[in-house]
Amino acid sequence: MTTFWDPLREMPKLQGKIAVVTGASSGIGLEMVGFLAIKGAKVYCTTRSEDKAKTARDVLQAKYPEIDQEKVKWLLLDLSDLQSITDAADELKNSETKLDILINNAAAATTSHNLVAGRWEWHMAVNFIGPFLFVNRVLPLLKKATNDSNPDARIVTLSSIAHSNMLPHNFEFQFDSPLCLTNPVISYPWQWRYIGRFVFGFDMIRYAVSKAAVVMFAKGLQSRLDAGGLPILSLSVHPGEVATEGVMAINNVFIKAIARLTFLTSQQGAATPLFAATANKIRQGQDNYRGKFLTPYGKIQAPHPVVEDPKQLQGLWEHTTKEVNKQLMALGLPPLDGW
Ligand SMILES: NC(=O)c1ccc[n+]([C@@H]2O[C@H](COP(=O)([O-])OP(=O)(O)OC[C@H]3O[C@@H](n4cnc5c(N)ncnc54)[C@H](OP(=O)(O)O)[C@@H]3O)[C@@H](O)[C@H]2O)c1
Repeated sequence: MTTFWDPLREMPKLQGKIAVVTGASSGIGLEMVGFLAIKGAKVYCTTRSEDKAKTARDVLQAKYPEIDQEKVKWLLLDLSDLQSITDAADELKNSETKLDILINNAAAATTSHNLVAGRWEWHMAVNFIGPFLFVNRVLPLLKKATNDSNPDARIVTLSSIAHSNMLPHNFEFQFDSPLCLTNPVISYPWQWRYIGRFVFGFDMIRYAVSKAAVVMFAKGLQSRLDAGGLPILSLSVHPGEVATEGVMAINNVFIKAIARLTFLTSQQGAATPLFAATANKIRQGQDNYRGKFLTPYGKIQAPHPVVEDPKQLQGLWEHTTKEVNKQLMALGLPPLDGW
């Protein structure tokens, strides 16, 4: 781990900047909102319910009384629901003329093998497909931010080192198959066949596969932004092992005990994604950082080799585009825009 990057000391001033943090009801998301707002950004926070927004607002106010609460806005967003994603993006587009920072933080970790909308594996749906559509929907606002006098638009997507630590290098990814969103894991590594689900309180393999898709999304997105001549940066981030409310709620007693003793706090967990989203070092050295995967505190880390496999990368993008458009059409919603 490299030296701690302290958001309070090292984040630049963000007056005039508009930011969105998804999954801001607690944990790393809520801490990022606090830091961004303290530095002067106007921050849109997404939650899945009004109740969660109210609780989060109270926590934020108690913890950071210095924040101008008028600068913290709340948006409803359920990333498993394409209508909700479209509505949230529309609300944002009706309220703002640009977006400087988008942090795709929300994620699911579950044992459920139910399919979202009867078609998509849960982790793939929430952690990858949801952000894929949300970014596409708000991209016009990010593009407008590039016309600023001091432009620095960035999209940061939270992944996890689990995508490379928990999956062997020869793991059989299915991203080049049309079934990759429905059944992304056809074979479990033998070590995980029996023990995996008892060690963690969620399906670590499916979670890790979705987080590999996220790293590929950040990289594929950067290629498309570059091809369009857009000076927007896209990065993916592992925030560290962080003892958030979410982690404490789903893991077993054993992992919880380890988490209490050894994991980062949520505030510390917020540092790496905020480094990716705001640090001057990234913009100054942008050629090194475009589309990269960062670990604490801002180290460029080689991701799982699947991320460098053009067939898997292209397959994932094409199948997702086709599937999402099919579902959007079925719901009577506008198709994906060009990137
Ligand atoms: N904590 C760690 O050790 C760790 C390690 C590696 C990577 N990460 C990644 O870092 C990010 C933040 O982690 P965290 O521990 O702070 O997470 P968390 O405490 O579990 O919070 C996750 C957030 O995602 C939201 N969410 C879940 N399902 C959603 C859906 N369908 N639509 C919209 N929002 C949804 C949750 O909202 P609700 O409150 O409504 O449930 C919550 O606000 C995640 O992407 C996670 O995968 C965390």
